[in-house]
Amino acid sequence: MKRLAKKWRWQRHLQSALIGLVPTMGYLHAGHLSLVREARRRVGRAGRVVVSIYVNPTQFAPTEDLSKYPRDMKRDLKLLRGEGVDVVFAPEDREMYPDRGDLPESFSTYVVEEKLSRSMEGASRPTHFRGVTTVVAKLFNIVQPDVAVFGQKDFQQAAIIRRMTRDLNFPVRVIASPTVREPDGLAMSSRNKYLEGDLRRQALVLRHALDAARTRVKKSKRVEANDLRGEIKKIIEAEPDARLDYVEFFEPETLVPAAEVSAGTQMALAVFVGKTRLIDNDRI
Ligand code: PAJ
Repeated sequence: MKRLAKKWRWQRHLQSALIGLVPTMGYLHAGHLSLVREARRRVGRAGRVVVSIYVNPTQFAPTEDLSKYPRDMKRDLKLLRGEGVDVVFAPEDREMYPDRGDLPESFSTYVVEEKLSRSMEGASRPTHFRGVTTVVAKLFNIVQPDVAVFGQKDFQQAAIIRRMTRDLNFPVRVIASPTVREPDGLAMSSRNKYLEGDLRRQALVLRHALDAARTRVKKSKRVEANDLRGEIKKIIEAEPDARLDYVEFFEPETLVPAAEVSAGTQMALAVFVGKTRLIDNDRI
């Protein structure tokens, strides 16, 4: 695997090899690796797969887990080598955000999506998506991929990046790849590492809530979103250490909230299990 050099993109361009990018924050698991495989499928054997590993400070609020975010570069590189990844881009903070912390800051341009980012994750974490769109725009400009692969696990994030790409005319095809789960149904996440003892079992309540919503809609065909929200809250809070942050029902393409839930409505939820905040979503 190589480190990314400026010349590299231009050389690939001359060779007309397709480039696929998988942006990550590292501490990789099978979910990330499924995106890497999807990128390889899209660019073909002659193409190049680039994985970025960067824990992006601008998408964490001061109260969040930036400094504690799990890291293991050695293991990540080994996993990516095993997947036949061509290039890893793992920049330092000072390469991405020059002089952060100095006054006046010499980084002052952000990319802000103004509609899809207001609800759900954006309501709970107000500056989060500004950080995500900014760093992804920077990665698109640095790597200049033809295809970029994101996970449906972060459903709203993928929708926002697709919108940004369209609105700002990035010549990148954005792919959203299915969520990879543990055998018992827990969506894989780097943050699952925080789930110790009984919290790991209690974390299954997200999957159970999604299943319960689907069963309910199968039976009743149409359910008022507010009624279903109440039922989901009860299911979540039956676990001693689980607290519902939000559960929303919406149209998958537009993220417009659905007053009534039926087959095809998307459901997304965020739940604190102990101190760990987990998210999940699925089509009802
Ligand atoms: P991170 O949480 O590391 O996730 C990187 C990518 O992996 C995202 O597109 C995410 O949706 C996907 N992913 C995570 N868990 C998954 C799972 N269980 N199955 C399938 N895909 C999964 O999301 C980010 O990093 C950052 O916000 C980033 C886009 C890199 C910008 O900093």
